Amino acid sequence: MKFIELTKERHSVRSYTARPVEQEKLDYILECARLAPSAVNKQPWKFMVVQSPEGKSKICQCYAREWMAEAPLYIIVCAVADEAWTRRYDGKNHADIDAAIATEHICLAAADQGLGTCWVCNFDTTLIRQLFPFEPDTYPVAIIPIGYPDETDRPEAKRKPMDEIVTYL
Ligand SMILES: Cc1cc2nc3c(=O)[nH]c(=O)nc-3n(C[C@H](O)[C@H](O)[C@H](O)COP(=O)(O)O)c2cc1C
Repeated sequence: MKFIELTKERHSVRSYTARPVEQEKLDYILECARLAPSAVNKQPWKFMVVQSPEGKSKICQCYAREWMAEAPLYIIVCAVADEAWTRRYDGKNHADIDAAIATEHICLAAADQGLGTCWVCNFDTTLIRQLFPFEPDTYPVAIIPIGYPDETDRPEAKRKPMDEIVTYL
C-alpha cells in the first residue's frame, strides 16, 4: 500500500468485532512502535498491552464508552518524562512528542494489517494511575483500542484545505 493510501485507510474506528487480534499482528504493530523516531533517540516510552478481562474492565472504567468495550485489546502508550530529551533553550520536555509519534506508528501499522484503532486521550487520568502500575516518572499519553472494524459505512475525514494550513515563505 502506498503511504497516501495507508494514511487514508487509517481513521478512528469506534465499532469493533469480537474477532481476536492475532499475536503476529500485535507483534508487527509493537515493532513499528519500537522503531519510531524520538528526540536524541531517547525512546522515552513504554507500551502496556491490555487484553485480560480484568485489564479491559479497568480500561473501560477510565474511558466509559460502549464502543470502547468492544475492542479485543488496548495499548496504553506511556511517556517516561525523566528519560526524554529536554531542549536547553526553553526547558521543553519532548516525552509527549516522542510518545505521540510512536502512537501514530501503532495506528498506521494496525491499518496496514487491516485493523482499526482510535486515539483516546479523554480518559480519567487519576483513575488510570490507580488501576495500572505506573512508575512515578511515567504517565499515560493515549489509550489505543485495536481490533477488526465493524463498520458498514465510514464517516468522511474532514480536513482543512491546503491553502489554510500551508505557507510558502
Ligand atoms: C491526540 C488525540 C486525542 C484523541 N482523543 C480522542 C478521544 O478521547 N476519544 C475519541 O473518540 N477520539 C479521540 N481522538 C480521535 C479524533 O477525534 C480523530 O482523530 C479526528 O476526529 C479525525 O478523525 P480520523 O481519526 O477518523 O481521521 C483523538 C485524536 C487525537 C490525535
